Amino acid sequence: MIRINEHYTKLKSSYLFADIARRVAAYQQAHPDKPVIRLGIGDVTEPLPPACIEALHAGAGELARRETFRGYGPEQGYAFLREAIAAHDYAARGCDIGADEVFVSDGSKCDCGNIQEIFSAGARLAIPDPVYPVYVDTNVMAGRTGPDAGGGRYEGITYLDCTPANGYVPALPAPGAVDLIYLCFPNNPTGAVATRGQLAAWVAYARENRAVILYDAAYEAFIRDEKIPRSIYEIPGARDVAIEFRSFSKTAGFTGTRCACTVIPKNLAATDASGREHSLHALWNRRHTTKFNGVSYPVQRAAAAIYTDAGKRQTRALADYYLGNAALIRAAMQKLGLPCVGGDNSPYIWVNTGRDSWEAFDRLLNDAQVVVTPGAGFGRCGENHIRISAFNSRENVETALERVAKAL
Ligand code: MLT
Repeated sequence: MIRINEHYTKLKSSYLFADIARRVAAYQQAHPDKPVIRLGIGDVTEPLPPACIEALHAGAGELARRETFRGYGPEQGYAFLREAIAAHDYAARGCDIGADEVFVSDGSKCDCGNIQEIFSAGARLAIPDPVYPVYVDTNVMAGRTGPDAGGGRYEGITYLDCTPANGYVPALPAPGAVDLIYLCFPNNPTGAVATRGQLAAWVAYARENRAVILYDAAYEAFIRDEKIPRSIYEIPGARDVAIEFRSFSKTAGFTGTRCACTVIPKNLAATDASGREHSLHALWNRRHTTKFNGVSYPVQRAAAAIYTDAGKRQTRALADYYLGNAALIRAAMQKLGLPCVGGDNSPYIWVNTGRDSWEAFDRLLNDAQVVVTPGAGFGRCGENHIRISAFNSRENVETALERVAKAL
């Protein structure tokens, strides 16, 4: 009889955002007359920038003629997009990243989830708590953890606590304790950012301990403080120890359009059991070419359009719009006397309500018809917190805040 991958049975029964969506759907079915405002999952609401739309149409137009039609593209992405990413996201900020070190994909969620495949089953993990659940769940699926140890934690993971006491930026693990380190800044879910000094300490740790950092920079477009690094490669020496994930989802409203990229420097290496070094770039290239056939041509054209002068202006205005919402949310929470972090260089506001987070979720859904994300869904250290997303229209955010103020 065919058997299942039993590691899947260690997982919580459903993915956090699927669970929330189910609860919201049940509420809506029971109360069809009460419109719900969603500040839960970070899904964008505003249209794509005009430069992207124009490029999307032009790309589709090329597919309409035999002379310009394209079938399979390069699995790693078209050169025009990889070169634009290398030039504008990296060279312009002093980072030494070549176009051939950029892998274009259909989303950071997939890349963050799939990357663990190229590391040994015995790799020791360091994962922040609270955390974007994909990092944990995909390692559970791969058998890199023990069973659920209770309280939302798995055996075999070194959890990096992010708490009010450390400003939600975790301390380094003990020397030699971990091999694979997940970091995300601006952070999902807390919205906290890491300073250059804090990132430099992580890079130094990884170099000294021959560990690899998986750096999720999906929210870098929201950084407004020029002193905060937008890429881990702004830290000298990071090329030897870090992989970076970038996304067009939040940067340019591509959550439904799908485009992202992963950067793996060619000099980044890890060893096999015999101690022989292997290029992680080569391994990922092998995986990517085997399992992925590239992002569609018009979508890559649309993504490249964010690097034109008009595209840059429009994507910045889009991020500024959501940051305007974030400022309103943060101010409203502070007015209620609730400590919070995020919202200034990030679209997420992490609010310390001091209450059971699922209870706060239920109360806001039932009494205010506002969906937030309960902090405990991101890990044990998320308890007593909620995450409020700034991705919605200004009008909806203002209405939601009036209702939340009455309900909390
Ligand atoms: C979130 O709400 O955490 C994100 O939208 C999830 C994602 O990007 O997959």
